[in-house]
Amino acid sequence: MKVVHTIKEVREIVKEWKKEGLSIGFVPTMGYLHEGHKSLILKSVSQNDRTVVSDFVNPTQFGPTEDLARYPRDLERDSKLVESAGADLLFNPEPSEMYPPHTTTTVNTTEVTEHLCGARRPVHFGGVCQVLTKLFNIVTPNRAYFGQKDAQQLAVVKRFVRDLNFDIEIIGCPIIREDDGLAKSSRNTYLSPEERKAAVILSKSLKAGKALIEAGERSSKKVIDEITKVLNTEPLARIDYVSVVDNVNIQPIDTIKGEVLVAIAVYIGTTREIDNFIIEVND
Ligand code: PAF
Repeated sequence: MKVVHTIKEVREIVKEWKKEGLSIGFVPTMGYLHEGHKSLILKSVSQNDRTVVSDFVNPTQFGPTEDLARYPRDLERDSKLVESAGADLLFNPEPSEMYPPHTTTTVNTTEVTEHLCGARRPVHFGGVCQVLTKLFNIVTPNRAYFGQKDAQQLAVVKRFVRDLNFDIEIIGCPIIREDDGLAKSSRNTYLSPEERKAAVILSKSLKAGKALIEAGERSSKKVIDEITKVLNTEPLARIDYVSVVDNVNIQPIDTIKGEVLVAIAVYIGTTREIDNFIIEVND
């Protein structure tokens, strides 16, 4: 596996692969990789002739009070994981390579970004779509892989690829969890041992909400109340949101029907954690 730092190097390698008629899978990441990322890379390797992984903490998707400076980084560890998963190329650019001075073109998103994390993090999804536009144009993949853990991001990416006519198939992959149910995330490293124990409340609360729906409950409010009740049993947890939305337009719904996303964001101490489940209800 090769590790490169410039756009030029990626383009040259990809050009050779395209000449040979090889298909390319792409896994964009912000590094500090874990089993969740590995599952995306493995999926890409199984579906494509070549796999490119990007490792870039994108500054434009962080708000001024967010964790850009302290976001964990470890390229050496990441390279090992990417190689062991069978990828062919790791792209790790400097911010100045991706954003030369006077970068002034941005990507604006609406509707799918109105609620959930989009409402709390106003610059976030614009930044995600901006960096993905650049990465998609650099890597020119046939397929790109995203985790369901960031369910709103996945919906935003699907919409943005459709709206802007990127010829890329977007593939969503299931959430990978720790043994106790906590969704794997690079941000879990921020948690103290006590907070790490408390963080299990996210998946526990979602389990309770899902059980209610499976038992026949169709009122979003009742499901939200149940999840909230469970979250409130944990003194270290502070709820940011508990929402029930349709999984395509990410709009709140009163009645649980069709493909539904139940999503939560919860502060455990100062660390903001997200989790969700998707359920299809057709009755
Ligand atoms: O999900 C992430 O890690 C990031 O938002 C992404 C898609 C790599 C864009 O920076």
